Parts: sequence; C-alpha cells; structure tokens
Amino acid sequence: MNGRSLLVLAMALASSSASFAQTPPPMPAQLKPVAYKVVDGNKVDNDTLQGWRTWRALACERCHGAKQEGLVGPSLIDAFKTLDKNEFHRTVFGGRVDKGMPDFSTSQMMQKNWENLFAYLKGRSDGKINPGDLHAIDSN
Ligand code: HEC
Repeated sequence: MNGRSLLVLAMALASSSASFAQTPPPMPAQLKPVAYKVVDGNKVDNDTLQGWRTWRALACERCHGAKQEGLVGPSLIDAFKTLDKNEFHRTVFGGRVDKGMPDFSTSQMMQKNWENLFAYLKGRSDGKINPGDLHAIDSN
C-alpha cells in the first residue's frame, strides 16, 4: 500500500468515526426495539396508536378477530407469545398466500407502520393493551 492510499484510508476512517459520534449506530437490521406505552389499558403512545390504526385500516380483524383471538386466521394473542419481529415482517410482507394470509407489501400504511403494528399486537398479546378503541396518552 502506498502513502496516498494510506492517507485515503485514514481519512475514510476519520470521517466514519465522526459520523458515528453524531448519530448513534443503527440497530442490527435497522429495527426499533419493541416498545409500547400504555395507560389504563386503552391509552397508548402515538406510535402504538398508529399501529392500531393500521390494524383497523387494513381490516386484519376480518380473519384474526376483533380481539385478535382468531377466526379463519390464527389467534395473534397466541402467535405473539413467540413470533419475533423478523418473522412478523416476513409474514406481512409476502404473506402466506397459499394458506390464506394476504401479502400487504404494497400497502403504504403497512410499509410505514409495521413496527408500530408489531408493538400494538405485542401489547395485546402481553395483556397490557385492551381490545377495542384506543386513544392517545395525552388526549383527555
Ligand atoms: C383474508 C384473511 C386474512 C387477513 C385479512 C389477514 N390475515 Fe393474517 N393470517 C391469515 C391466515 C389464514 C394465517 C395462517 C397462515 C398459515 O397457516 O401459515 C395468517 C397468519 C398470520 C400471522 C402469522 C401467525 C403465526 O402463528 O405465525 C400473522 C402475524 C398475521 N397473520 C398477521 C396479520 C395482520 C397484521 C393482518 C392485517 C394487516 C392480517 N394478518 C390479515 C389470514 C388473514
């Protein structure tokens, strides 16, 4: 390696460590940690509220039940005891069309909110979020 390429390498290293100092490194696979905040069972943080709205807008209850208890599709209360975020991602983006689970990959709402939807369903499965309508924590 000649002096010039060493210098380029050094500059590249310096600039990459500088950008790390400003923004924390992303989590592996760019996933947010699963987090939902809930008060009184039916008031949640805004992200989780978007997750619930996505559930409603895409009408997942047609097959999984209004309380996620299962209908023609399996209970998501049970599924979320073990389903991890990557598996959830694979299931909604791609579906299991041969088994009756639609592919939601063209839904912009799903693209934007799948992690929020995951958090909402986790909260339901944990028994912390009530079935039915939700409100923002900071609304009265
Ligand atoms: C038309 C019916 C239908 C709709 C609508 C539907 N699902 Fe499903 N879903 C299914 C079926 C059937 C399965 C089971 C597939 C299988 O046997 O592997 C399933 C499986 C799943 C699983 C995997 C469960 C497990 O045990 O691994 C998840 C997660 C899921 N659905 C989430 C959703 C979400 C979120 C929505 C709304 C965006 C939704 N589904 C809408 C029918 C549906």
